[in-house]
Amino acid sequence: MDVRFVSRLQQVTVLGATGSVGLSTLDVIARHPDRYQVFALTGFTRLSELLALCVRHTPRFAVVPQEAAARGLQDDLRAAGLATRVLVGEEGLCQVSADAEVDTVVAAIVGAAGLRPTLAAVDAGKKILLANKEALVMSGALFMQAVRKSGAVLLPLDSEHNAIFQCMPGDFARGLSQVGVRRILLTASGGPFRQTPLAELEHVSPDQACAHPNWSMGRKISVDSASMMNKGLELIEACWLFDARPDQVEVVIHPQSVIHSLVDYVDGSVLAQLGNPDMRTPIANALAWPERIDSGVAPLDLFAIARLDFQAPDEQRFPCLRLAKEAAQAGNSAPAMLNAANEVAVAAFLERRIRFPQIASIIEDVLSIEPVVAVNDLDAVFEADTQARALARDWLSRNAR
Ligand SMILES: NC(=O)c1ccc[n+]([C@@H]2O[C@H](COP(=O)([O-])OP(=O)(O)OC[C@H]3O[C@@H](n4cnc5c(N)ncnc54)[C@H](OP(=O)(O)O)[C@@H]3O)[C@@H](O)[C@H]2O)c1
Repeated sequence: MDVRFVSRLQQVTVLGATGSVGLSTLDVIARHPDRYQVFALTGFTRLSELLALCVRHTPRFAVVPQEAAARGLQDDLRAAGLATRVLVGEEGLCQVSADAEVDTVVAAIVGAAGLRPTLAAVDAGKKILLANKEALVMSGALFMQAVRKSGAVLLPLDSEHNAIFQCMPGDFARGLSQVGVRRILLTASGGPFRQTPLAELEHVSPDQACAHPNWSMGRKISVDSASMMNKGLELIEACWLFDARPDQVEVVIHPQSVIHSLVDYVDGSVLAQLGNPDMRTPIANALAWPERIDSGVAPLDLFAIARLDFQAPDEQRFPCLRLAKEAAQAGNSAPAMLNAANEVAVAAFLERRIRFPQIASIIEDVLSIEPVVAVNDLDAVFEADTQARALARDWLSRNAR
């Protein structure tokens, strides 16, 4: 055989493999064994699921949070006849992100915990498929500087940002005004509480908040979608990914989640990307970019959808969206503080310690107390994150049940 014609399989690390995005990624990868090989899978609490994924995808490495869990998983993997090596903690996550043999890193850990492993992939110049929007929200300027410095290829997995990416011209990095882009229209479903009477929001349960009308997702992002903090985080994410000012990104409620976002050009053309609400489409798009591969997603049936609706977001109903816009305008440490306070508040809501509207109250309080400071390095980002978490926990100790 002439080895020049044997193309190497792309080695993929999936950070957060046991989660919703991780599982969708593995579904797409499994459809293309001629292209992709799983290099590493990581999990946090769902370790029996991680074992099953290792058996299915035979990665070189698996990563878990603690030594004891690592020993247990290593024994189970050996018993299953697998050579997968188990690594531990953040160091293990960074190792499988930066390993010289890895081509692509899917950043699908939820929350601030994903920042260091994602940055390790960036610093190593990998192709990064970014779902972990919190990492970019926290450290936007530093993150994008690191991308430019290492030459990493950053591709958005968030369906909205992937849609925007598909509607942008290839040379959008020259600047939006240079390429004739007037606005980015970021669509939002409005979540499960779009029409719930405001007074009833005091009594909604975590399960109601997680019952998203169109998307099946992890619990943290589901609550963020219900409060529209998710759209606020996405607005900040869009500013960094596409070098846009916050006022160039307009949020549009579109309850059907068929149009995943739009780009408005100065000549009046508006380009949109449509598709069924299934993360396998943006995942397949980013994995194979600039080629196209089958994702397993059913073709869009416009006749079944029949109509597309749009409305402006109501910031009285969704105060988290206003808070995120204010943090985007303030810049510096404000988005990291917003994200940290939100993570603490959402966890408390999921534990039934606070009511749904109190998520916004906590964030607003934290942002009003903690001064916005410049963040010139990662230590400053984590300092802002730690401070905001402490203030949010302090709020909880005074007010939560
Ligand atoms: N789901 C979607 O459709 C969607 C769409 C766009 C963007 N995103 C973004 O993608 C990310 C993941 O979302 P998801 O819905 O897939 O969440 P998820 O289902 O909750 O999965 C989160 C993953 O992160 C792992 N994890 C949690 N805490 C961790 C920690 N401290 N250290 C290391 N790993 C940790 C989890 O492990 P265990 O499960 O083993 O505990 C799991 O593998 C989020 O940033 C979200 O905003 C999601």
